[in-house]
Amino acid sequence: MLWCCLLIPGLTNATPIEPVQLRADATAYQLSLFLGNLSPIPWPEIDAAWSRPNDSAVTDSTGYLLLTQYATASLLVPEIKLAIRNKDRQGLFESTTRAMARALLDLLDTAQNELQAGTASTVLTAARGLYRVFEEGIRNTDPAGYRELGQAWLLLSNAAGSRGVLGVGAVDSDPAEFLSAKNRIRTYISGNFDPAVFTRRSILSPLPEMRVRHQGETRIPATLPPGSFIGDQSPLPRLVLNFEEQGIDETQLPLVAYGDMLFDSPEIFGDPARSLGLACSSCHNRSDINQDFFIPGVSHQAGAVDVDSAFFNALANDQRADSLDIPSLRGLRFTGPYGRDGRFASLRDFTRNVIVNEFAGSEPTPFMLDSLIAYMLEFDFLPNDLLSSAGRLSDTSPLAARRGEKLFNQPFAQMNGQSCASCHIPGANFLDRKSHDIGSVRPAYAGSRAGALDTPTLLGSRFTAPYFHDGSLPALADVVDWFDARYSLELSTEEQSDLTAYLEVVGDSESPYEIFDEVNTPFKLMFGELTTFASTLDTLIPRRDALHAGLLIDTVAKDLIADASVMSNLRAKGDIYQLAYKLRDVGQSIASGDWQSASLRWKEFNELLPAIEPEAY
Ligand code: HEC
Ligand code: HEC
Repeated sequence: MLWCCLLIPGLTNATPIEPVQLRADATAYQLSLFLGNLSPIPWPEIDAAWSRPNDSAVTDSTGYLLLTQYATASLLVPEIKLAIRNKDRQGLFESTTRAMARALLDLLDTAQNELQAGTASTVLTAARGLYRVFEEGIRNTDPAGYRELGQAWLLLSNAAGSRGVLGVGAVDSDPAEFLSAKNRIRTYISGNFDPAVFTRRSILSPLPEMRVRHQGETRIPATLPPGSFIGDQSPLPRLVLNFEEQGIDETQLPLVAYGDMLFDSPEIFGDPARSLGLACSSCHNRSDINQDFFIPGVSHQAGAVDVDSAFFNALANDQRADSLDIPSLRGLRFTGPYGRDGRFASLRDFTRNVIVNEFAGSEPTPFMLDSLIAYMLEFDFLPNDLLSSAGRLSDTSPLAARRGEKLFNQPFAQMNGQSCASCHIPGANFLDRKSHDIGSVRPAYAGSRAGALDTPTLLGSRFTAPYFHDGSLPALADVVDWFDARYSLELSTEEQSDLTAYLEVVGDSESPYEIFDEVNTPFKLMFGELTTFASTLDTLIPRRDALHAGLLIDTVAKDLIADASVMSNLRAKGDIYQLAYKLRDVGQSIASGDWQSASLRWKEFNELLPAIEPEAY
């Protein structure tokens, strides 16, 4: 059996779903519909989606440029531009959807004309690529139509013939068959994506018009727009846990281990985060940040995200495009209050707000909050040999940094007699747990007082660029420049570089990233985590805690399957699937209230584990 193609019902979507690569016009279409569903709608970004090349498209042309090359779809370009200029959302939907439908049909016409020349199949591939923008919507709302179209595409490619390799295996084209299959596609695509009149849409998505007319707007699973990235940052930050440093094993700390699992679980969120496979750890990679995280329109730059945007939860959308740089959670127990503006004194309130309001999850149980917090309070700062626990530089630090340390502690009249150290207190993890308006926030309206932000720590900061709440400063040297200019500190060039050298040493660590090698493979790391998570069943089963055991099993079984699909030791793959199945059996026993069988299956899982473990890596 081919493990790659094994489909396990209910065990899909465990890893973040990434968008497929499409042509520039299809990319522009998907991106502009996604952006058109945000509120406020980022019209300049929609314009850019069509007029600029997109890195994630297979061609480096632009959407507009490709459109102008089609016989009839090209006529819609002025209409699209007008809709964007007039900020006409429905107009954008209609003109772009019609353009994609006509482009597809134009390509089929071209393919037909090229049947004789034998080059039809290349054009056909392009047409099939455009069809992908409609495919999901059809599949989800009109299974019969979807099958019918699938057949027609198959007939088309057979009828197109092929030239074979060096004249061997050539198949003649069949123009009559081609025409008939083409007409079937034309009827469906024109009727549904280029109809005389479109229903007014509240969600911009390429659903077939006839379905919408008869069934209303069905929601289809959310997808990420082209250009998105929600996978892990590379290199992966190293996770420093307080208990581990003390030699305590996580399996001895069931509450913490359960919280660790929840931190990695999309199951605690509602849609779309949940079905996209998004978890706390997607943004806060291994307690730190994810510099590569990006969703167009929702992130203003990589590593940033607007957590209260229409995308994650329309109900909690604050109607402001206020994407923030993702903060590190290292040393979280020392860094309250929470939120970049310190608006939450309580980590519990903050965490509940993240789950329920930001990511549309159900109300977490007290146990879930307790465990998430127990886990997060174990996040430690990265070790730094050059700093004493009082935050003083060691004698072995570079000279420039030691000169910088003096500057850092020197009061400046221009800063109301404060020094950098007044707020970033070296003996208190380089923060003061207070909010200050240092002038880094542009006032939202005249007279606005909401410019105060919680002083961030400077520990580990060497690895968390860019800087400030909006990620507007690319490097630590830019931060020094900023303070120098803002407060007219009149630092000499040498003083600036000394201060920067100091910040770099304070923010440094010997081992900031997870190091993978032949022994410590990514799979081993994941597998170790998953089996640790599972170990909490040792407490949950005796407590007859069906709810939390179920949540755990859903998360871990899905992840085991997903991780197995990326492991390098192919032979051990089957074993991992077997383990996942065993875990699901535990879950099924629990769901049916048969705790005895659950205990038995769980025992079997644990017997299976030691045999598999050494091989799994
Ligand atoms: C899509 C990205 C994303 C996800 C997912 C996410 N966060 Fe965050 N997190 C952020 C951003 C951005 C901020 C800054 C928000 C602010 O200041 O309001 C933040 C801030 C925080 C803070 C405050 C840190 C501080 O020092 O003030 C905590 C704690 C936190 N998140 C925990 C969580 C937990 C727990 C989860 C999962 C339940 C989670 N986050 C999921 C992006 C994310
Ligand atoms: C009045 C308190 C205060 C003083 C004084 C102060 N800072 Fe800050 N510092 C802050 C706050 C608040 C922020 C967050 C700004 C933002 O996110 O927009 C910050 C941000 C920073 C950052 C970026 C951290 C990150 O991860 O984004 C660095 C680096 C920094 N300060 C260094 C300095 C230096 C160097 C000085 C002295 C020249 C200084 N600070 C003086 C309060 C202060």
